[in-house]
Amino acid sequence: MTNTRSFVIAAGFAAVTAISNIGGVKAAGDVNSLTAQPWSFKGIFGTFDNAEVQRGLQVYLEVCSSCHGLGYIAFRNLAEIGYDEDQIKAIAGQYEVEDGPNNDGEMFTRTAQPSDYFVDPFANEKEAAAMNNGAIPPDLSLICKARPGGADYIYGLLSGYDEEGEHEVPDGLYYNAHFPGGEIAMPQPLYGDDVEYSDGTAATVEQESRDVTAFLSWAAEPTLGARKKLGMKVLLFLVVLSALLFASKRKIWREIH
Ligand code: HEC
Repeated sequence: MTNTRSFVIAAGFAAVTAISNIGGVKAAGDVNSLTAQPWSFKGIFGTFDNAEVQRGLQVYLEVCSSCHGLGYIAFRNLAEIGYDEDQIKAIAGQYEVEDGPNNDGEMFTRTAQPSDYFVDPFANEKEAAAMNNGAIPPDLSLICKARPGGADYIYGLLSGYDEEGEHEVPDGLYYNAHFPGGEIAMPQPLYGDDVEYSDGTAATVEQESRDVTAFLSWAAEPTLGARKKLGMKVLLFLVVLSALLFASKRKIWREIH
């Protein structure tokens, strides 16, 4: 009996040590810790700032889209960040999609419509790897959810290159303090003034990184606003329900007390 018990305790202890070790290895991977950024969409009342998200779309379109797809987002989804139909048509119109087969059984290309999805820059993974030194640029639709640290990590990554620093990295890799291991196959994508914002915002590296991160956070959770609104309604309902239940409990038990 005692033996079984000490065995269970020892096994539990070993499991806990193993789990904390996994954590330890990971922690050693990220070279620099991340700074928490004051995102507008954080917290229970947080919402996306459309102006910021729209600037981020511009950065994505003009810089990132040459290597990264955004395959889970349809052009019509851009209505949620404040674009009207004509603007969405104009954005979709920059892309060509394959469609078909037509009546002759052939595939053809046509200009993208609002109902189409963002088009991948590469025909397939082999082409993507061949064009990027063997590394495949991941689709960015869900990247903010897929990486520990979320938006803070993406922001840190984009603004965390250090070209002047003396870091020895193999050919085709670049030093980035926030990438686990410190060596990433993506060349520094943002240097500042990569885009010209129509609202006059200065396009510094930090600003562009912040904006495109906000855009990717929206892409990863387009229904965040609706979710938080529903959450508030549910909370309000629970508060009212509790008050009613408390009042009726007092009424029912008054005579007995
Ligand atoms: C020249 C091509 C190129 C451009 C332009 C580019 N990327 Fe990348 N990106 C890559 C490659 C290649 C990888 C894979 C890196 C690796 O696995 O080492 C990558 C990886 C990433 C990752 C994933 C990092 C991780 O934790 O795995 C993110 C996020 C990212 N890019 C965001 C962006 C954003 C945002 C932009 C635009 C501002 C951008 N990229 C522009 C090529 C590019």
